[in-house]
Amino acid sequence: MTAQNILVAVAWPYTNGELHLGHLAGCYLAADIFARYHRLTGNQVLMVSGSDQHGTPITVTAEEEGLTPQEVVDKYRQGQLDVWDCLGITFDLFTTTGTQNHQGVVHDIFNTLVENGLAVRKTTELLYSEVDRRFLPDRYVEGTCPFCDHDPARGDQCDNCGRPMDPLELKNPRSRLSGDTPKIRESEHYFLRLSALETELLNWVERQPHWRVNVRHFTRGYIKEGLHDRAITRDIDWGVSVPLDDYSNKRMYVWFEAVIGYLSASKEWAALQGKPNAWKDFWYGPNAKTYHFIGKDNIPFHTIIWPAILMGYDKDLNLPFDVPANEYLNMYGGKFSKSERRAVGIKDFLERYEPDTLRYYIAATMPETSDTDFTWEEVVRRTNDELVATYGNLVHRVLSFIRSQFNGKVPQPAVLNHTQEQMISVAKTALKDVGNQISQNNFRDGLRTAMGVAQEANKLLDSEAPWKTIKEDRSKAGTTLWVVLYLISTLKTVMQPYLPFSSQKLHTLLGFDRKLENTGWDIDEPIPGTTLPSPEPLFTKLDESVVEDEVQRMSENSQSSK
Ligand code: MF3
Ligand code: ZN
Repeated sequence: MTAQNILVAVAWPYTNGELHLGHLAGCYLAADIFARYHRLTGNQVLMVSGSDQHGTPITVTAEEEGLTPQEVVDKYRQGQLDVWDCLGITFDLFTTTGTQNHQGVVHDIFNTLVENGLAVRKTTELLYSEVDRRFLPDRYVEGTCPFCDHDPARGDQCDNCGRPMDPLELKNPRSRLSGDTPKIRESEHYFLRLSALETELLNWVERQPHWRVNVRHFTRGYIKEGLHDRAITRDIDWGVSVPLDDYSNKRMYVWFEAVIGYLSASKEWAALQGKPNAWKDFWYGPNAKTYHFIGKDNIPFHTIIWPAILMGYDKDLNLPFDVPANEYLNMYGGKFSKSERRAVGIKDFLERYEPDTLRYYIAATMPETSDTDFTWEEVVRRTNDELVATYGNLVHRVLSFIRSQFNGKVPQPAVLNHTQEQMISVAKTALKDVGNQISQNNFRDGLRTAMGVAQEANKLLDSEAPWKTIKEDRSKAGTTLWVVLYLISTLKTVMQPYLPFSSQKLHTLLGFDRKLENTGWDIDEPIPGTTLPSPEPLFTKLDESVVEDEVQRMSENSQSSK
């Protein structure tokens, strides 16, 4: 099979706070598992994202924290980079929306849309507060959702039904700054002519049967309600500029420019490689595919607005191939919320626990098709009963036994019996299955299949009991161990996208010389006679007291952040 070019385009997190487990479960872990898998198979992968520095989420935080928007960005940007580093999220580029390059690409697209008649000026009615003496775009206004009656719904999007919003549509609008009931005032803005692209968009969506049901359903439903033109400029002073003299007091709407980041980041990456055209490999032609990893609140921006921008800008650019949006990870039955004592930061978690512990837990509870729930009880249970008991202990038992009984050398197998032969094919099948599951974005299934290999290995070990057979027949015991090592080596590969740190450790413990990545998506056969280093546990068991300690810590954190 010829190598494919896979663009892994991941949502750009707002740079207005610390990344928490909800972000990780929403898109970052899935994207990384997917990217790592494709790299292992030999595909070309470009995984890009960056800090989303603009929009009212940043300015509202700035006002709350008494900082300038730039100070907010500077305060939180490094934390994002640290998280990727500690957790092994392997971006090829994690840039920001504050670069000159990004501004240039946004201006080019904006100008082209204007030339093509798809971005047009319109006078429009907006909410203006006489108390605040300013327009109230997006998150500056709250009210009741006209679609589902949720309150408070934000002026940019309803958290409950997910529909993007125009502040004017809100019932009972009020200023988030002063509580003032805003009045209507006219202003002029550029509008993206979604209405003109409606049919084209719908036809395109109908041709994506491979999308997740929730993504397809939401997108079709939204388009069928009738697409309205959307303003893509704002009366604010923080954001990407608009390349027109009479718009010097306005800025681009954050969602218009942030999604363009996928293209501008690809160009920036190419320039950094010293191959300024290399981005094209990931954007044009049937051999390139774009996957957007996002949380469900981002769906309409990636399945409607971004494709509309692409259609209007350059018909030859690839549209998203898949948008495997996840649902939400909740916390003890509610939304993640700092003020309500329900939040766990990623950095905070990694200060006390191993990155693969977190990756395992999040992958195992990933909200792929419905919301899931985070609890510390489950973190402890899954770590101890699954990761440690099924996988870690297996490896430790076997390597310790080989050390004490076989001088630390990989045993020479005799002819395999029927069950052992079957185990080899179980391993080979698992390798294929996990690969298919990951490439179809079924990450939980993939992890379950991978864990199945550990379960089979435990079964074989228990039924053939080499610690007994060794007393009469060394070679028989050695053959069992070699087969179990083969299964363990399989685990090293199939777990690698999920648990890269322990796979690296296991690779070393199994005595392989070459670099782990060079194994590819394949099984490294254990080589008889290889001397194995002295075994170390792959994972650390968690004490039951973790639950109480962490619940206590969450309540303390929320006290201090009030
Ligand atoms: N900043 C947005 C959020 O955190 C996501 C932006 S994704 C992009 O919800 F495509 F616009 F970049
Ligand atoms: Zn709603």
